[in-house]
Amino acid sequence: MKADLLVRGISQLVTPAGAGPKGGADMRKLRVIENAAIAVLDGKFVWFGSEADWSGEVAAVVDVGRRAVVPGLVDPHTHAVWAGDRLNDFEARISGVPYEKILVSGGGIRSTIRATAAASPEELLALARPRMEALLYSGATTIEVKSGYGFTREAEFAMLEVIADLAASTPARIIPTLLIHVPPPAAERAAYVSDVCQTWIPEIVERRLARAVDVFVEKEAWTAAEAEPILRCAQEHGLGAKLHTEQFHRVGGFELGLRMGALSVDHLEACSPEQVATMNGSPTVATILPGVSLHLGLPPAPGRRLIDAGAAVAVGTDLNPGSSPLFSAAQALALAVRLNGLTAQEALVAGTINAASALGLRDVGRIEAALPADFLVLEGSDWRELMYTLGSNPVRETWVRGQRIAEAGVFAS
Ligand code: NIG
Ligand code: FE
Repeated sequence: MKADLLVRGISQLVTPAGAGPKGGADMRKLRVIENAAIAVLDGKFVWFGSEADWSGEVAAVVDVGRRAVVPGLVDPHTHAVWAGDRLNDFEARISGVPYEKILVSGGGIRSTIRATAAASPEELLALARPRMEALLYSGATTIEVKSGYGFTREAEFAMLEVIADLAASTPARIIPTLLIHVPPPAAERAAYVSDVCQTWIPEIVERRLARAVDVFVEKEAWTAAEAEPILRCAQEHGLGAKLHTEQFHRVGGFELGLRMGALSVDHLEACSPEQVATMNGSPTVATILPGVSLHLGLPPAPGRRLIDAGAAVAVGTDLNPGSSPLFSAAQALALAVRLNGLTAQEALVAGTINAASALGLRDVGRIEAALPADFLVLEGSDWRELMYTLGSNPVRETWVRGQRIAEAGVFAS
């Protein structure tokens, strides 16, 4: 066998095995190879296994010095393009004003919409780039980025164009999503929905500006009945459907997502045990966002119960200025272990193959021959440090398509 590169000296290589989302007990099944090596050709894995078994021809060798290797993480839920800050909200919330109250009085998400509208595309791109670098450094090699701080058609398209520019200027694989976030005044809601269906989505498909459409279903946002035609239209146009739902209240977005075969239902902090039980065998991924529980003081989503009920759970940062200023994919997993009751094994599956499935991707989130060589070299020799470490970065090197793009906090790009 021929390879461009052999990565050797791997104390443990740990990866989910087999394509597709893993639900229930399958979330605890990982392939672990001690004293391992990886061979890369043309940016793809061509071989991995016990180092002693390698017998090919290779152009270059990197010894990682007895460190653990895992697949590149997938962050399946971010709002990484925004302007302004939410420091006043933060202060108000700390002194007891609820997030929903701030939103309904015109602050919160609506203040970020105003600040984002006032920024130029160049400014938005310059603000988003270091956020991508932080996520890459924390191990995310595939990152979903939503629009949703545009609101008007013009501003939403401008956000999607910034996301496309971001995708072209970062080594991370960026997956763009159109987010229909907060509604206009009551009298204009129906017209807004029909505009999204009749003009926005067809143009987005034509210009390949998004791969999925997400709707924020909540008391202070859209109803499930309003979300349904938008998501139906998205699916008819070949886009994935996603929902922000059951964050504060049981609003029916959860049931809608499962009924429609959405790629994912995200948040779920307010999900009841009865709702959780209906996820068994569902192809829809339950994406939980522990940064939100930490930052807003919400009850954590029932991660443990979801997995015990057979659900495929993914974990995301939900990086955004209002509900989750969490700039680390690795820390999201570490928080899911503490707040949502996942085991370290489940958290790794949640942050790799299940997160990929939440984006409709089958070629990332695991180490497997013929897939893109996206992987992480951890600081430690035991992979569980990825879930254990708080505050300092457990990821030493981030590799994307066989290239080392970050090492110990220094970017090669
Ligand atoms: O995922 N809940 C709705 N949307 C985002 C928050 C956005 C914001 O607060 O700016 C979320 O939590
Ligand atoms: Fe979100």
